[in-house]
Amino acid sequence: MRVFLTGGAGYIGGATAEALLSEGHMVTVYDNLSRGYRDAVPQDAEFVLGDIGNRDDLAAALSASQFDVVFHFAALIEAGESMENPGLYFRNNVAYSHNVIEAARISGCSSFVLSSTAAVYASSAKPLNEDSAIEPANAYGETKLMIERMLHWYRQAYGLRYAVLRYFNASGALPNRGESHHPETHLIPRVLQVALGQREDIQLYGTDYSTPDGSCIRDYVHIADLAEAHVLAAAALEQNETAVYNVGTGIGHSNREIIDMARTVTGHPIPVRSSPRRPGDAARLVAGSGKIRHELGWEPQYSELDKIVSSAWDWHRNRPYGYRD
Ligand SMILES: NC(=O)c1ccc[n+]([C@@H]2O[C@H](COP(=O)([O-])OP(=O)(O)OC[C@H]3O[C@@H](n4cnc5c(N)ncnc54)[C@H](O)[C@@H]3O)[C@@H](O)[C@H]2O)c1
Repeated sequence: MRVFLTGGAGYIGGATAEALLSEGHMVTVYDNLSRGYRDAVPQDAEFVLGDIGNRDDLAAALSASQFDVVFHFAALIEAGESMENPGLYFRNNVAYSHNVIEAARISGCSSFVLSSTAAVYASSAKPLNEDSAIEPANAYGETKLMIERMLHWYRQAYGLRYAVLRYFNASGALPNRGESHHPETHLIPRVLQVALGQREDIQLYGTDYSTPDGSCIRDYVHIADLAEAHVLAAAALEQNETAVYNVGTGIGHSNREIIDMARTVTGHPIPVRSSPRRPGDAARLVAGSGKIRHELGWEPQYSELDKIVSSAWDWHRNRPYGYRD
């Protein structure tokens, strides 16, 4: 396949580009490096520095080859930031994603894979299936839902085939790539920053949720498993016209469990500072992942919590400041 991949200088896009290249596909990464790093783009990928807000640049890049599929990772991803500045999110994620979908259509590319999120769902005490109640708790989740809906109408009107992958929490590292957001709001890298001496303690947002230990519960998927889900979803698009899949393990871990695992892996006491709830955080988001396992044969290989935290720790110890070293 010839793949056009937006956001490939980021954490998940870079890992997926690497997985695609290792299976013999050709990958062009398109990224403005606003939140990503040139070093995170695999060496064998073609790199185009560009903004998805720029329709002319997008059209030029997409018409440079006949691409078989667009993987669209480029987005702003911080739920908290989206609550403070939703306008930024609606522009960058919704309006600019429309540019990407439209440019794909005009270029004659027939398949599209969207990075969506568990944040489209309402918090639930039960595992979330693809038909569970949709009710984003934050503007970020709402932006992803809007892109999903655009794809629905592009399928109807123009025949664009698409797969939506609703990721739960991407986590862990490969030997040569890991999670490096700036600012970092994700729990595992923040906890590891405490073990590295870069933070004094870990702020635990919300200790009064109706969960067994009072902290939020999330479903963590190792990026190697997440990357593999993309490869399978793109291949399946050759037979199917549309698909929506949760990409999660079905197992929830509370924030306190994550901190405990990080203490075990790093040997550091990792002091905790209890803080009020953060706006936009749902209490519990855990995947029902039967559909992707059954239909695509996806089976997570690396997503046990000890493997996730150990792999992240190995990477962060080697690159304490991520790609900014
Ligand atoms: N990290 C997670 O746990 C998670 C969970 C669910 C969904 N997702 C989705 O997965 C995708 C990738 O997430 P990530 O963690 O790798 O994020 P990331 O911030 O590491 O990567 C996003 C990339 O998009 C690029 N980008 C942003 N706006 C752009 C623009 N206007 N033009 C060109 N490039 C632009 C950034 O420079 C960055 O390289 C996102 O769409 C996100 O919504 C992530």
